[in-house]
Amino acid sequence: MTEAGRNEVVAILGYGNQGAAHALNLRDSGRRVIVGARSGRGAEARAKEANFDVFAPAEAAARAQVVAMLVPDEAVPEAWGEVGAALQSGACVVFAHGFNLLYGALALRADADAVLVAPTGPGRVLRQVYERGDGLPAYLAGHQDGTGRAWARAEDYADALGCARARLWRTTVREETEVDLFGEQSVLCGGMNELVTAAWETLVAAGYSPEIAYLECVHQLKFLADLLHERGVSGLRRGISGTALYGDVSRGARVIGPASRAAMREMLEEIRSGSFARELAGEMAAGRPTILRETARAAAHPMEAARRRALGLPES
Ligand SMILES: NC(=O)c1ccc[n+]([C@@H]2O[C@H](COP(=O)([O-])OP(=O)(O)OC[C@H]3O[C@@H](n4cnc5c(N)ncnc54)[C@H](OP(=O)(O)O)[C@@H]3O)[C@@H](O)[C@H]2O)c1
Repeated sequence: MTEAGRNEVVAILGYGNQGAAHALNLRDSGRRVIVGARSGRGAEARAKEANFDVFAPAEAAARAQVVAMLVPDEAVPEAWGEVGAALQSGACVVFAHGFNLLYGALALRADADAVLVAPTGPGRVLRQVYERGDGLPAYLAGHQDGTGRAWARAEDYADALGCARARLWRTTVREETEVDLFGEQSVLCGGMNELVTAAWETLVAAGYSPEIAYLECVHQLKFLADLLHERGVSGLRRGISGTALYGDVSRGARVIGPASRAAMREMLEEIRSGSFARELAGEMAAGRPTILRETARAAAHPMEAARRRALGLPES
């Protein structure tokens, strides 16, 4: 850590998934850390329990030279007004995801820095890995360099998080944001959830047992995902039976065929043009109607009950 970094006060705004891990790792790396949290909520109590000095978000921002904006992305536009106005001259604002830097049009004083330091995993893992002496890789990008020290401060922050023990990937705010959104829509959340549901429905509609369909098409996904994580696609293929391998190479491209690939290109274009971000802002402003409707529908789906029976869990 640089000498300048050691002397700067870091305000962590939002003591949640990322915020708690950042605050604890930075403090254990010798940083002077305070927390900004809303009064009377859970985050305030948790931060106090961990012996941090806690202030209202704008007051914490006013007391710090480095301000990490770690409230949920959808809460940033509203929270930013008073935080942005409270920033000291020469402050450095750190984001863990580029979404609001790219789409948020946040007003930022010209003499401040704004950087992206995005660890490649959830806060719980960031903390666990740090505690055992390792680090999670992180993406770093500059957004505004008001002091001429923005990049050094981003590296410094990532170092104090433990991420420099692994690897710091230099990227841009645009690349981090667009790739992150595309990954969660096409594979990690949207694609995966729809794939397993469609496969389960196909088997059940053909008369197979809902419990066995669940175990085969959903529950076992973790074992294969672990193999993929450890070995990549080629390594995974070396670890499965000849029958599974032939089914894979001869049928997989029918599931993800030309229509799916066209949909992926279309989704990517919606992300790049900003139309997805505008649609999301409309959804949030309207009280999240699509999210509430679709999550309620999924919770009532018969696959949920099949899951509980298949795994011997109590009926909810
Ligand atoms: N989750 C991940 O795995 C992950 C990974 C990499 C990057 N990121 C990024 O990290 C950032 C933080 O995400 P997160 O998942 O850590 O958030 P989170 O856990 O969902 O929320 C953080 C905290 O923000 C507080 N909060 C909510 N609205 C607020 C407001 N208007 N003003 C002040 N505090 C508010 C909440 O506490 P109270 O309700 O108690 O006030 C909550 O505990 C995001 O930019 C996200 O994209 C997340």
